[in-house]
Amino acid sequence: MKERLRQLQQDALSALKQADDLNVLQNVRVKILGKKGSLTEVMKGMRDLSAEERPIIGNLVNTLKDLFENYFIDRQLELQQRDVAARLANEKIDVTLPGRKTVSGNLHPVTLVTNEVVEIFSRLGFAVAEGPEIEQDFYNFEALNIPKDHPARDMQDTFYIKDDQVLRTHTSPVQIRTMLEHKPPVRIIAPGTVYRRDSDITHSPMFHQVEGFLVDDKVTFGDLKGVLTHFLNEYFGQGHKVRFRPSFFPFTEPSAEVDIECVICGGKGCRVCGKTGWLEILGCGMIDPEVFRSVNYDVEKYSGFAFGMGLERIAMLKYGVNDLRLFFDNDLRFLKQF
Ligand code: PHE
Repeated sequence: MKERLRQLQQDALSALKQADDLNVLQNVRVKILGKKGSLTEVMKGMRDLSAEERPIIGNLVNTLKDLFENYFIDRQLELQQRDVAARLANEKIDVTLPGRKTVSGNLHPVTLVTNEVVEIFSRLGFAVAEGPEIEQDFYNFEALNIPKDHPARDMQDTFYIKDDQVLRTHTSPVQIRTMLEHKPPVRIIAPGTVYRRDSDITHSPMFHQVEGFLVDDKVTFGDLKGVLTHFLNEYFGQGHKVRFRPSFFPFTEPSAEVDIECVICGGKGCRVCGKTGWLEILGCGMIDPEVFRSVNYDVEKYSGFAFGMGLERIAMLKYGVNDLRLFFDNDLRFLKQF
């Protein structure tokens, strides 16, 4: 019996030693200590032993059992640690791999231009104002001295919602809304979306304007010229000639249209300026006393100027874009260039 136990010890220890992964090790354990394991079999055979032999063999068997258990636990720990080390080595991050590029969006060119215009006028002390895109006839036309029979009211130009409600055709109604709420002095810059029934390579039924106006005592046409010339120099760069051409708007008197020497050809004449050497940029003038009357400003005391320009148009000129519709097609290949 002792001989058998010695043999069992030898076999078991070498099997445990050779087990090279946790599953095999577990199987070896079952083969020794499991219900039908070799040592368990020996224990079952104890009842056939004599009374003198039983305690001696029992002792031996118990010692062996402890030995195997301890050996098993040590080996198990060893294999577990080996596995963890292998996994850590495998999962090492290669920090020299080039990263994946993240695609970042950018602002729409019209937004960029709006921000730039607002920024330039902010530095002159102008504050930003806004108004609704669905506008009452009163603000869009009536209070701006556009009488009922004025051509600008023609169904061809205006989107009507109701008889007295339109999609605003310009940002000028913000003048009225601001002046009804604030007493002079006011200095406002008002960018926004406007709508007209018009569509070709230079017109879109929805486009953007920026309105500017200033009211105080003793404001002159000279102030208007100074402010706009400063703006054009800041926006298009110094050194372009600027000219004021007489014009007409119902809400300004006198009125002018402002041209800048063509920023594409430098005034020599090209396709963009229609060979004239000049680009028409904006409309402006001294606010008509009729407008002041409709907002209850004292026409004897106050004077002011106003101007309005198309943001897509000045974006086209600045970036050399030749079709206004590109701004609204949302083609990323176009939009990503700004
Ligand atoms: N509202 C005019 C337009 O849309 C532009 C303008 C604004 C002209 C202010 C003079 C003064 O054409």
